[in-house]
Amino acid sequence: MLQGHIVVDRDFTIAPLDRRVFGTFVEHMGRCVYGGIFEPGHPTADAHGFRQDVLALTRELGATIVRYPGGNFLSGYNWEDGVGPRDQRPKRLDLAWGSTETNQFGTNEFITWCKAVGVEPMLAVNLGTRGPDEARHFIEYCNHPGGTHYSELRRSHGYDQPHGVRFWCLGNEMDGPWQICQKTAAEYGRVAQETAKVMRWVDPGVQLTACGSSNRSMPTYGHWEHDVLERCFEQVDFISLHQYFRNDADDIKSYFGVIEDLDSFIREVAAIADAIAAKRRSPKRIMLSLDEWNVWYKAHTPDDLRKPGWPVAPPLIEEVYNFEDALVVGGVLITLMNNSDRVKAACLAQLVNVIGAIMTEPGGPAWRQTIFHPFAHASRFGQGEVLRTRIRTDSYSTSTHPKLDFLLTSVVHDPATGRATVFALNRSSSDEMQLAVELRGLGKRRLAHASQLHHTDLKAANTRSTPRAVEPTEHRTASLAGDRLEATLRPVSWNVCVMDPG
Ligand code: AHR
Repeated sequence: MLQGHIVVDRDFTIAPLDRRVFGTFVEHMGRCVYGGIFEPGHPTADAHGFRQDVLALTRELGATIVRYPGGNFLSGYNWEDGVGPRDQRPKRLDLAWGSTETNQFGTNEFITWCKAVGVEPMLAVNLGTRGPDEARHFIEYCNHPGGTHYSELRRSHGYDQPHGVRFWCLGNEMDGPWQICQKTAAEYGRVAQETAKVMRWVDPGVQLTACGSSNRSMPTYGHWEHDVLERCFEQVDFISLHQYFRNDADDIKSYFGVIEDLDSFIREVAAIADAIAAKRRSPKRIMLSLDEWNVWYKAHTPDDLRKPGWPVAPPLIEEVYNFEDALVVGGVLITLMNNSDRVKAACLAQLVNVIGAIMTEPGGPAWRQTIFHPFAHASRFGQGEVLRTRIRTDSYSTSTHPKLDFLLTSVVHDPATGRATVFALNRSSSDEMQLAVELRGLGKRRLAHASQLHHTDLKAANTRSTPRAVEPTEHRTASLAGDRLEATLRPVSWNVCVMDPG
């Protein structure tokens, strides 16, 4: 049996965990908006056309912030098309996804949906076809109380009070040749600087994210972050990271290595941002927003991306997640928590249907994909401060990673409630692991919850006909004696043990 030994002490913390790391993403793409969160006529739809089954699952998922409206869609989007009387909204060609956009859902509907779910909106401004002028009007429309053209326009649309949107993204993946109006780092850095400046003049309370690289393999990676931040360091609060994880070799051992790659990505981007700070002798620290991440590789063929005839909301990249994808998503969540000092926001891309945690059938049911479960656990129990862990465990190697620990873990303690939670991934595909956690300085406790996500088939998936094939079960081996938690972790399993004082 493998050993996994963890020591934590309540006084040794990494940082408070920003709950915005449990964000997700709704793009006008495929069936994410239309047929996902919004389906007038669906048996569960409310007066707004919001599917209540999806809304309830979004709450259960524990999403805290939701990015909107894109994605690549953003770079050709006119926000004005999506507000005001629905019968006057234009239909447009969406060049990003080869679809027709009806604009029956727009900013005000999104804000209303966010309020209904209980999540914070994260809006994005188009820096592809448009720029600072559109951005200053859009933020005036959303956040200015009244008495000006765009704030009064919002009020005339039935939204008397400002939306008060705090978190804004300055464009999307502007380094990518697939982007509508791709830019060089110099071009983008400059327009981001000026856009951020005027947006802050409209509303000084906003938090702004500059686009980082579209992924760590981009040829301009590193230089892009450096050159963009050289220009807009003073004006922005965050730089974004995007990363989609793949299992091309169809080998769970190497697939798990993508988690370490993300850790390196986070450290590298933080180092570049800090180098810019150092050159300026600035104490300012740019924080990281992983505002698109997920597993995405199975449904990634040209056929999935563009359908002929400019259809409305065609099914696009409807990845069906399996058990091993859920394990990787769990490992990524552990990594995000362990980087809580720098990663202050993250969005699982996307929420529904399009590489979604939730799947729906038009007019039919909604169900949880496998990846839903570790995310819901992490959001439900990931509250408070992330503790430093001293870990002793066995490790293995792959052709790309000389040392991968079998045990991947994060321990979170909430000083407000006293609750402590251990998240643990056993990455061995063959061996059980004896887990022992010494919880120093946390006093007497009792086990409040212990669950595991495990399946004997790595390819098991939740589908319309088997929606509960992969779901958490009670962890029967977890026990607590004094300040020591013990549990036997099954091979390839995600485990959560929650301890309350008393
Ligand atoms: O989430 C799907 C797409 O992936 C987004 O539109 C884009 O930003 C990324 O390339």
